Amino acid sequence: MANNTLNIKQFINNLLEKKSADEVIETVKKSDLKKTLGAFDLIILGIGAVVGTGIFTIVGSAIVGGLEGSGAGPAIIISMILAAIASIFSALCYSEIAAMFPIAGSAYTYTYITMGEFMAWIVGWILMLEYAIGNITIASAWSGYFAQFLKGFKHILPSFVTTFPIWLRNDVRSISIMCEKYGLDIHDKIPFIFDKIPFAINLPAIFIVVFLTLILIKGVKESTRFAGVMVAINLFIISTFIFVGAKYVQPENWTPFMPNGISGVLMGAFLIFFAYIGFDAISTTAEETKNPQKDIPIGILGTLCICTILYIGVALVLTGMVPFKLIDIQAPIAHAMHYVGKDWFAGFISAGAIAGLTSVLLVYQLGTVRILYAMSRDKFLPRSLRVVNRKSRTPHVLTWVCGLIVIVGSIFMDLNISAELCNFGTFTSFIVICIIVLILRKTDPKRPRPFRVPFVPLFPILGIFFCGGLIVYSLKTLKTSSVLFPIWTLIGVVIYFLYGYQAHRNKNQKR
Ligand code: ALA
Repeated sequence: MANNTLNIKQFINNLLEKKSADEVIETVKKSDLKKTLGAFDLIILGIGAVVGTGIFTIVGSAIVGGLEGSGAGPAIIISMILAAIASIFSALCYSEIAAMFPIAGSAYTYTYITMGEFMAWIVGWILMLEYAIGNITIASAWSGYFAQFLKGFKHILPSFVTTFPIWLRNDVRSISIMCEKYGLDIHDKIPFIFDKIPFAINLPAIFIVVFLTLILIKGVKESTRFAGVMVAINLFIISTFIFVGAKYVQPENWTPFMPNGISGVLMGAFLIFFAYIGFDAISTTAEETKNPQKDIPIGILGTLCICTILYIGVALVLTGMVPFKLIDIQAPIAHAMHYVGKDWFAGFISAGAIAGLTSVLLVYQLGTVRILYAMSRDKFLPRSLRVVNRKSRTPHVLTWVCGLIVIVGSIFMDLNISAELCNFGTFTSFIVICIIVLILRKTDPKRPRPFRVPFVPLFPILGIFFCGGLIVYSLKTLKTSSVLFPIWTLIGVVIYFLYGYQAHRNKNQKR
C-alpha cells in the first residue's frame, strides 16, 4: 500500500517535472543551429507567416458570412481591429518570454519550464494543430490559387495543363461537398478504386510542399531570403490593390455599415483572426537569432503593426469597390478587380496570392520542424528525428517527416476543417502564453527580461479573455472541428502515456 502511494506520488512528480530555466539558457549557448537572423529577417519571416490565406481568401467569408453565420459587412474593419487587439496581448506576452528564453520550441518549451512535462507535451501536440494542420489549409489554398492562375494562360498553354482534372488538385471530401452543392454525380468527377473507394490527390499541394522542404533543408538563411522575395511580391501586389482600387471606391457601398449587427462583427472577428496568426512563428526561430533580446520583440510587434495597417486598407477598398453582398468568397480581391473591369489586374492578384501563400507555408513548415526538434531533443520523440545535416546544419530527417505529414494531410483533409482546427490550436497556445507570463512573473521575478509586457496582470488577462471568448464562440458555432479538437488532444494524451513518458525516462536513465 505504502509502495503504491509512493509510486503514484512519483508518477505525479514526473508529470509535473519542470525543465530548469538555467538549463534552457545553457542549451541555447550549446545549440547546433546557426545564428544568422536579425530583426529585419524576423519581420520578413513574420509578414511571410501572417499575410496569406486570411487576407486573400477568408476575408470574403468574414464580410459576406457563410453556412454557419452571417458576416460583418463593411464593419469588417471593426472585426479586424478586434482580432488585432486579441492578437496584440498574446504578441506582447510572446515577446517577453521569447526574449527571456530564445530557444526553438516556442510555447512547448516555455510550458515545460513553467508547468512541467505533461502540460508541455500537450501544448507541443496542440501546437501541431496550428502549424502542421494549418499547413494543410495553406497548401490546399495554394493549390486552388495555382489552378486559378493557370487558367489565365488558357490561350498559351495546352488545355490539360490549364484545366487539369479536379481529382488531381483536391481531396475527396471537398469534391463530394462540391458535387452535393451543385447536384453533380461524383462518379463523373472522380475515379473509384475497385469501383468502391473514391480517389483524389492534390498534386499542386504535394509539389509545393516538396519544393519548400528542399529549400528548408538547404538552410534557414536561404529560407529567409526566399521568404523575402515572396513577401516583397506580396506586399507590392496588396499595396497596388489598395492604391488602384481606391479610385473605384463608392462611399455608398459602405452603408449599411453593420448589416448583421454585433453578431456579424464577432463572427467576422473570429474568421479574420486566421489572417493574424503566424507572428508567433517568429519565436520558434529564436535560437537562430543573432540578438534575440532586442530583435524578437521588434520582429513580433513590427509584423503585427504592418499587417494591421495593410488589412484595414484592403478592407476599406474592397468593401468600397463592391457592394458587400456581391463580394466573392473564394478570391475576393481578384474578383473585386474583375468587378470594376480590370481583368488583367485580377491575374496579378492571383500571382500575389501564390507568393503570399508560399511564404506562409515556408515559415509554418519551419515552425513545425523547430517545435518537433525541441520535443525530440527532450527525448519525447525518437533520436533519429534530431539528426542535423552536417553541411547545412538543418534537421533534414525531421524536415522530410513534416513535409510528408502535410502531403498525407492534404489528401485526407479539406481546407475548412483544417483551418478551424488550426484556429483552435492557436487560441489555446495564445492562452497558455498569457498564463506563462503570469506564472513567471511570480516564480522567477528576478530573471532579466529584456522586454516586459506593460500592465501585468491586466494585459495577459485580457489576452486570455479575448482568446478564450473566441474559443467559446467558435465551439458554439462550428460542428465538426469542435468535436475533432478534443479528439486530437485525447490522442496526444494517449501517445504521451504509451510512448513519450517512458521514452523520456528510459533515455534520462541512460545518460
Ligand atoms: N495568417 C496566415 C494566413 O492568413 C495563417 O494564411
